Amino acid sequence: MANKILVTGGAGYIGSHTVVELYNAGYEVIIVDNFVNSNLEVINRINEITHQKPIVYPIDLLIKDDLEKVFSQHKFDGVIHFAGLKAVGESTQYPLKYYKENILSTINLCDLMNKYDVKNLVFSSSATVYSPENEMPVNEEGKLRPSNPYGRTKLFIEEILRDLYQADNDWRIVLLRYFNPVGAHESGLIGESPKGIPNNLMPFITNVATGNLKVLKVFGSDYDTVDGSGVRDYIHVTDLAKGHVKALQKNVNPGIRTYNMGTGNGYSVLEVIKAFEKATNRKISYEIVDRRPGDVAVSFADPTKAMEELHWKAEKNILEMCRDAWKWQSKNPNGYN
Ligand code: UD1
Repeated sequence: MANKILVTGGAGYIGSHTVVELYNAGYEVIIVDNFVNSNLEVINRINEITHQKPIVYPIDLLIKDDLEKVFSQHKFDGVIHFAGLKAVGESTQYPLKYYKENILSTINLCDLMNKYDVKNLVFSSSATVYSPENEMPVNEEGKLRPSNPYGRTKLFIEEILRDLYQADNDWRIVLLRYFNPVGAHESGLIGESPKGIPNNLMPFITNVATGNLKVLKVFGSDYDTVDGSGVRDYIHVTDLAKGHVKALQKNVNPGIRTYNMGTGNGYSVLEVIKAFEKATNRKISYEIVDRRPGDVAVSFADPTKAMEELHWKAEKNILEMCRDAWKWQSKNPNGYN
């Protein structure tokens, strides 16, 4: 019988792509999601791609009794935990909301994993846990110092999970630190569907390309980079999803292990615009404005450890990321809405 995996936040952007790759790898999937930042339509799309239909529980991880019903109905072999709030700006306005939602939900989840003896977890962390003072590329030993409440929820959860393993050496835990996930499934059926005006670069670009938004603001032209704009490690969401499957497959021995999920290449904002124009034959109008507060100049991964230990490597290049982001957005100009 196939291994059964609980995916929290499985209807979200990275969650949904990972569910597809779990099916491709032969797993059985159960989703819990509160749908505050996702849409039930994604389940139909997953079905169109994989011809499988996950059981979905529309529940909130903060309501532990609801989550316990899920654990009592299924015997899970492992959990991938995506669910959480992720808007940096909002987290600076409402820190308590972020600490409550992200941290308490993880504690509820781990409590039940303990109780039902499912001590196998892959956790969705972020490169934002690293200090901006690290030299790039940064490896997993880099100094940790997030610069906003959202990032601190990720770091605090990492610390909680390290304590959990120290207290009980039966646990198998993987922390995946994502760099900048972009793109969409190559079918164009699932993708990123932010509510309101996008904060992140790629969804902003694709919305300028559809005409939903007029002009892209490039935040900063005086960073110490190739062309003065900020540099990031963009990774195709399908590569990232496959990284989760690898992490599960390799998570057979007790321990807590951390991996960067990036390509190891940095691209500037202006380079991403050029790549998008080349991949899609569309013009992106942009204007250069001041730096965005809180941004760093350069962030990219040293992904060596994931290559060596997980035998995983991001395969898709920046043109494929742009092409697939555009395929999704042009087929679904308003996302799932
Ligand atoms: C942001 C978050 C990070 C989070 C990640 C999730 C901040 C400060 N950081 O990363 O914690 O984990 O999203 O995906 O919000 N840019 C523009 N114009 C835009 C939007 C972005 O020029 O309209 C630039 C930014 O200045 C940056 C690059 O594009 O140089 C990427 O920005 P973004 O997609 O928001 O990601 P990060 O800021 O790296």
